[in-house]
Amino acid sequence: MMFPTILLAIDDAELSSELLSELSAFDDIKVCLPDDADANNAHMAACWHPDQALLTTFPNIQCLHSAAAGVDHLGKPLLKSGLPVARIVDPDQKQGMLEYVLWCVLNHHRDFDRALSHQSQQRWHLYPQVSASAVRVGVMGLGEIGGYVALGLAQFGYRLAGWSRSPKSIDGVDIFAGQSELVPFLERTDVLINLLPLNESTQGILNQSLFKTLPKGASIINAGRGGHLIESDLIDALKEGWLRRAILDVFTSEPLPVDHPLWTTEGVIVTPHMASSSAANVIAKQLRENVLRFNNGEPLLNKVEPF
Ligand SMILES: NC(=O)c1ccc[n+]([C@@H]2O[C@H](COP(=O)([O-])OP(=O)(O)OC[C@H]3O[C@@H](n4cnc5c(N)ncnc54)[C@H](OP(=O)(O)O)[C@@H]3O)[C@@H](O)[C@H]2O)c1
Repeated sequence: MMFPTILLAIDDAELSSELLSELSAFDDIKVCLPDDADANNAHMAACWHPDQALLTTFPNIQCLHSAAAGVDHLGKPLLKSGLPVARIVDPDQKQGMLEYVLWCVLNHHRDFDRALSHQSQQRWHLYPQVSASAVRVGVMGLGEIGGYVALGLAQFGYRLAGWSRSPKSIDGVDIFAGQSELVPFLERTDVLINLLPLNESTQGILNQSLFKTLPKGASIINAGRGGHLIESDLIDALKEGWLRRAILDVFTSEPLPVDHPLWTTEGVIVTPHMASSSAANVIAKQLRENVLRFNNGEPLLNKVEPF
């Protein structure tokens, strides 16, 4: 009998080995690596920055599965190949993102970032305390993760707005939708959080014109993807004093090269793509469920329409 088989096309040795171990424990599916003799039997590829020749090397692949929440890392040719694409949706990952973003917003709201930089100058300085309800936070992207983050921050007491392609309804969150409502959304935002997916219409969206539409002194948090940000525009906006702070978790080149100016630009906090991730056993469970579904001709869970 031929088992439903997953090919691991994962450009991360640690994740690949964890998934191999987790998936090997299931007795109703098979898992293989690109160099394995039976790799050609796989119908589903689990991907993280996969080789762009994947479908030429393994023409029997009929379904692509991101091993993460985002699918941009598959690259345009695979996303536009016409094959079904699915991704991971994980409650713990949403909560992890809320924790990360809450830390970022608290830095701005309670001036912890300023206190830390004053310590290096042995400077004792207090800023007036304002209530959370006076801090206007805006979340770009109200999907699985962004919607959860917006709700959580609103429940924490912040004044929340969110922006997405189509209108949503989230308790305590003022909703803005579409290109025509981007400017009013930005104009009322002191702390901007980017949780958009990277696609043709969001590439480079965090640029000079967007920064200038935010009120002077605003902070930005980029936990989406590095490709959303025009890094030189951000550096200019910080140097000019228009933006107060940028907390960046994702970069066009990761790991961020040691000589990259963002490491040393005043006002930038760099975190190493650590905002939130899914545990290997959670990813493996969802991969197994979907390869079984695919094999039985049932609809995939968490299918994405690439755009
Ligand atoms: N840093 C990290 O550790 C980390 C971890 C996990 C995820 N992420 C990032 O977070 C992103 C979001 O994840 P998710 O699961 O929330 O994605 P999702 O469920 O696909 O939601 C995407 C949201 O963005 C909106 N959107 C898409 N294109 C848009 C556009 N052109 N203009 C305005 N809104 C647009 C969508 O609006 P509609 O609903 O109206 O279509 C939707 O609300 C991922 O793609 C990934 O890049 C980062």
